[in-house]
Amino acid sequence: MDVSKLMFRENFLAGERILVTGGGTGLGREMTEAFLKLGAVVHICGRRQGTAEETARELMAQHGGTVVAHGCDIRDADAVAAMVDAIWEEGGALTGVVNNAAGNFISRTEDLSINGFNAISDIVFRGTFYVTHTIGKRLIDEGKGASFLSILTTWVWNGSAFVVPSAMSKSAINTMTQSLAVEWGRYGMRFNAIAPGLFPTKGMSARLSPGGRGDNSNIDNNPMGRAGEMHELANLAVFLMGPGAEYVNGQTIAIDGAGYQATGGTFWNALSGLGDEEWDNLRNLIKGTNAQ
Ligand code: HXC
Repeated sequence: MDVSKLMFRENFLAGERILVTGGGTGLGREMTEAFLKLGAVVHICGRRQGTAEETARELMAQHGGTVVAHGCDIRDADAVAAMVDAIWEEGGALTGVVNNAAGNFISRTEDLSINGFNAISDIVFRGTFYVTHTIGKRLIDEGKGASFLSILTTWVWNGSAFVVPSAMSKSAINTMTQSLAVEWGRYGMRFNAIAPGLFPTKGMSARLSPGGRGDNSNIDNNPMGRAGEMHELANLAVFLMGPGAEYVNGQTIAIDGAGYQATGGTFWNALSGLGDEEWDNLRNLIKGTNAQ
């Protein structure tokens, strides 16, 4: 990311302690970089501890400050509890949590196995709750507030073809955001979400546009004529996590160049015409990737 395009003063996030799930790669890494650059202590977690550690090392070498890496699969509630213990031991309560970890791949719904459905919903639907619930309870006990931010997608409002487990799960997190904004607002916790449009990452392209065979109509039809740039997403995330935004609660904010509304609200429609052989090829391409 071009950190010179961050719109906040130096040390804007000094004193903040933020956990970014899935912070080792993709959008999570970009937000981690922005938080670090602006003075926060950032904790990141990922299933592969090595990847999280490498990201932490690289970002600290570039910007200084503190990024603490945790190997934690958020599908495992016990592992989440152990990570939260470790975070508190390192330096006390978190002031912010970014629910960013996710999984997704395009597939015809009739081709999904139950395991395939669970692989995605266990991360997005259950894992996000485990993280939010574990940290929220702890903050209530200690009488401390925090900003929770969940990274959703624009299909939380209209759903989307060919990504049903993700669409279902992310919509549920949208509902969690609204519900907890009310229930836990009184404890000084606020819950917001960002619904990004297209912000291409390696993992996303590999699983959602394998071999370039995804649906590019959202860029072609986007009024901006382009995908999002990482600093644009990071600026919104910093605003929601930072001091001064305390009265923003229960909101899901789209950042998509208005392409989502302009193109009728769903992704992947162009894939409706693909046949069995093409879906077999796509599945093999997706499964053959290691990109995260
Ligand atoms: C059908 C598939 C499949 C595919 C996996 N499965 N890929 N089924 N088509 N392409 C099935 C497997 O066959 C298996 O079921 C089950 O899913 C579990 O597969 P594993 O590979 O063992 O799972 P796991 O290692 O846990 O991988 C999780 C994952 C993977 C979600 C499947 O994609 C992943 O690690 N993703 C993390 C990163 C990521 O997804 N980034 C992109 C996020 S982008 P069987 O029945 O065979 O046992 C995003 C927003 C996009 O979310 C927004 C766009 C605008």
